[in-house]
Amino acid sequence: MAPTTIMGIESSCDETACAIFQDNAIQSNVIADQSVHQKYGGVVPEVASRAHEKNIIPVVDTALKQARVDKKELDAIAFTRGPGLLGPLLVGVTFAKSLAFGLDLPLIEVNHMQAHVLAHFIEPPTPTFPFLCLTVSGGHTQLVRVDDYLTMEIIGETRDDAAGEAFDKAAKILGLSYPGGPLIDKYAQKGDPHRFSFPEPNVSDLDFSFSGLKTAILYFVEEQKKKDPQFVKENLADICAAIQYRIVSILLKKLIQAAEQTQLHNIAIAGGVSANKELRRKFKKEGEAREWNTFIPKFEYCTDNAAMIAQAGFYKYQAQQFVESDISPVARYPF
Ligand code: KG4
Ligand code: ZN
Repeated sequence: MAPTTIMGIESSCDETACAIFQDNAIQSNVIADQSVHQKYGGVVPEVASRAHEKNIIPVVDTALKQARVDKKELDAIAFTRGPGLLGPLLVGVTFAKSLAFGLDLPLIEVNHMQAHVLAHFIEPPTPTFPFLCLTVSGGHTQLVRVDDYLTMEIIGETRDDAAGEAFDKAAKILGLSYPGGPLIDKYAQKGDPHRFSFPEPNVSDLDFSFSGLKTAILYFVEEQKKKDPQFVKENLADICAAIQYRIVSILLKKLIQAAEQTQLHNIAIAGGVSANKELRRKFKKEGEAREWNTFIPKFEYCTDNAAMIAQAGFYKYQAQQFVESDISPVARYPF
């Protein structure tokens, strides 16, 4: 029997991406980043949509070529339906529908946040079910109980800003370019995390809140700049280290609480913020102290990519979960 071959397409934010899954593995994973947003300090949806339109055909073409797969070998097309920016999603969804129609293939819709969790199955070591996953991205912060590839439940989430958003907004206050998360990660490495201190929110249950932290950073920076206009420049590493220290401490506190409540010992992190070096280091350390089996994705599968969409598509293909061609994207997509 011919091996199952799935194309995955991702366009929910500012990455246009395509990946090919065949022979139980990802054969190619192509991403076009949109550096055009840097000068605006954030993703401009209309600019992103136009860049997706320009990128999608070359990205899909390259993904097929790199995988040495002919489009006639494809068994299904999987695409991100949401959550994300509607304009950018529309480009990927429309392209996926057209390609599926042209090749007479079934269509598979994928929830982007579930795909971040399933990124753990792209390469070993893979978690065993059930496991707990802290998914931290630019738009979401979720604690997810995962019972099977397609059975997962959100048991805690943010009430306002996401963890990635907190990194990005803090970076903007400091005058750093977008996306700020990786820059704070970089500068923090040379900083003292305890010279400055930012408050910890008091949120019940397994929920998170980051908007108070953002306000505290803003007031602190404004206040210090009044006394010394060079304050940020001269203390950048220490400020970044303190911001990162607090975001990571908020995340790990709730993750530990969730692990205790659920009695789960297989614990994973996923999403763009799981690329953060301090989060990875402290997560591993907590895991060793608590005898967890910890799972951290490779860097390229933390931030947005289509490999995770193709991987999720494969599980949905096995379950024969297809959608009709009148499907449309959704900005919010709870599960
Ligand atoms: O998952 P992702 O690529 O896209 C969304 O689904 O949103 O996550 C993007 C987020 C951004 O907020 C970005 O600043 C953050 O992940 N991020 C990081 C790092 N790398 C990416 N945050 C902190 N440290 C990093 N190294
Ligand atoms: Zn994402």
